[in-house]
Amino acid sequence: MNNDEKKELNTVIDSGWFTEAAKTRQFEKMIADFVGVKYACAVTSGTTALYVGLKALGIGRGDEVIVPDLTFVAGPNSVEAIGAKPILVDIEQDSLNLDLKKIKQSITKRTRAIMPVDFNGRAVDIKNITELANQHNLSLIEDAAHGLGCFYDKKHVGTMSDIGIFSFSTPKIITTGQGGMIVTNNKKLYEKCKAVKDFGRKSGTKQNMRMAFDHPTIGYNFKFTEFQAAIGVAQMKKLPKRIIKKKEMFKKYHDLLCNVKGISFVKTDLNKITPWMIDFILDSKNKKNKLINHLKKNRIETRIFYPSIHKLNPYKASDKNYPNSSYISDNGLWLPSSVTLKDNEIDLVCKKIKNFINQN
Ligand SMILES: Cc1ncc(COP(=O)(O)O)c(C=O)c1O
Repeated sequence: MNNDEKKELNTVIDSGWFTEAAKTRQFEKMIADFVGVKYACAVTSGTTALYVGLKALGIGRGDEVIVPDLTFVAGPNSVEAIGAKPILVDIEQDSLNLDLKKIKQSITKRTRAIMPVDFNGRAVDIKNITELANQHNLSLIEDAAHGLGCFYDKKHVGTMSDIGIFSFSTPKIITTGQGGMIVTNNKKLYEKCKAVKDFGRKSGTKQNMRMAFDHPTIGYNFKFTEFQAAIGVAQMKKLPKRIIKKKEMFKKYHDLLCNVKGISFVKTDLNKITPWMIDFILDSKNKKNKLINHLKKNRIETRIFYPSIHKLNPYKASDKNYPNSSYISDNGLWLPSSVTLKDNEIDLVCKKIKNFINQN
């Protein structure tokens, strides 16, 4: 961040109005226009966006929601928080996204929704997932937390489901410190989301003081702040350049490393996808751990993939149903991916990786 964010922030401080209002509406409109939806609703985080979305869809106790086994724990946790049961389903190794065949096998009479994740921004097979959801009368809540700047055909990810969500936590392509956005083309769902995040108020009634304490439904407080919106507005102006930079970075890493033995890249169409983080898959977990240490000694930070959800204490389940998720989680690695990286720094990271592979 720089003076652009500071200037926007000062306008909010000078305005004297801090809870969500005009600046938040501006930020929501920027996101809605960018991704191409009718409605966008800002909330405190990607996690609360999932929670509010599930609530608006009417998911609750006794329901089941299909979630990929390879994702951040926020997905299944939001399903738990709503009182429903997350049903973990394995992924495909070549897309890192939900396996359609395995979704089909996991649908029961309690299933109410599917929560596909566009892992690292690579679009899920939304056309076929939608067809399946329609056949079984299921809702779709798409976790596009990583997906700003990513497209399926010509449509932005997150926009073809009943509800899509984005995250603006600090490492994302744009950030508001913390923050999330719900997007939808369905007015009723949008109105419900607005009520859930604002104590169950009917949208727009707060301006009328007599209505300020009218709460026709149950809601909570997941409102945005004008401070976050100010940062978001400044960040959105930087998004187009960041998208170009992330694609250039991915291409450079890919070109330097794609022929290195033991390293493979996930198929990535840069005409459509903006990988949020640079990722690759090693051919052994042991090698991955050694590489992490080797890079650390050279002052190069990496990030391991999320653990498979079924291996986490609250969701413990047998390994046998999740071979792909387990393999990818064990062998995947995220490389330095900040848009501030310079070409010579990427060269250095790749040189250190090649040195390691040659010696091992
Ligand atoms: C796939 C996925 N879903 C949801 C979230 C939750 O977003 P937040 O951290 O904004 O709550 C994250 C966070 O990184 C994520 O990676």
